[in-house]
Amino acid sequence: MKTLNLVITCTDEELNREALKLSESLNLPFVGSMKTLSKNIKDFDELPSKKFFLVVSKDLIYLKQGLGDSSKPIFSDFLKWSKQSHRVNLVKSLRGLPKKSLFIDATAGLGKDALLFSSFVDKLILIERVPWIHALLEDGLKRQNKLIPSLKKIEVICSDSKDYLLKLRSNPDAIYLDPMFENMGKSKAKREVQALRELVVENSGEELLEISLKKAKNRVIVKRHRKAQSLAGIEPTYSLKGKTIRYDVYSLKLS
Ligand SMILES: C[S@@+](CC[C@H](N)C(=O)[O-])C[C@H]1O[C@@H](n2cnc3c(N)ncnc32)[C@H](O)[C@@H]1O
Repeated sequence: MKTLNLVITCTDEELNREALKLSESLNLPFVGSMKTLSKNIKDFDELPSKKFFLVVSKDLIYLKQGLGDSSKPIFSDFLKWSKQSHRVNLVKSLRGLPKKSLFIDATAGLGKDALLFSSFVDKLILIERVPWIHALLEDGLKRQNKLIPSLKKIEVICSDSKDYLLKLRSNPDAIYLDPMFENMGKSKAKREVQALRELVVENSGEELLEISLKKAKNRVIVKRHRKAQSLAGIEPTYSLKGKTIRYDVYSLKLS
């Protein structure tokens, strides 16, 4: 995994111990507090490498590129996302799922798509294999599950989904896959997506789709760029197309 350009800091020396704990659990170097760093570097915006920092603050853990004011924090912001309008096609892709569904988001990332699933399914398992992304996700869920009750349905697991799914005893109703894809059009990817692309080595998700198709009882949903070929060359039952995104739905229930 490409995590070499990522280090841990904290906003204040009071948080050194917490940051050190996180650095040990994630096996990423702790470079001291931002205050200590600022004594050595006059202008954060001029940081040569534009490194990524995982910042421990009093209220939350966030990711930041460089430490200058020009770079905005990236974190699991369920509250902000809950105020954004529903993505119609993603909602449509869930139509007809059994009422008491067990749903697995096997490529959880920061959990934006998962927030939507949480209001439609009975139980939701999120799997994220990169430990520091899993840490951001867990932190977001812990902070906001009182404000957004549907988040309480979520269980979050740090694992490779292929291993997790292969070991599963009771199969889920549906599995969602959002493997990272390259930008194919002119539109710029969102900051969160750009950061993940820079920091995480992604594989295509082909094997994950093959396993998911064997494990899901009702359907597998795959997020693709509108112009991309179907994942692993396996044709979906139907697709829901938007301006830049397409959802390929593989229907598996016996009719
Ligand atoms: C494009 S992001 C997902 C974004 C997410 N849908 C959201 O709404 O925030 C893909 C994520 O899947 C994770 N991932 C990719 N393959 C995985 C696997 N086999 N097991 C677990 N996580 C995986 C990556 O580490 C990355 O964080």
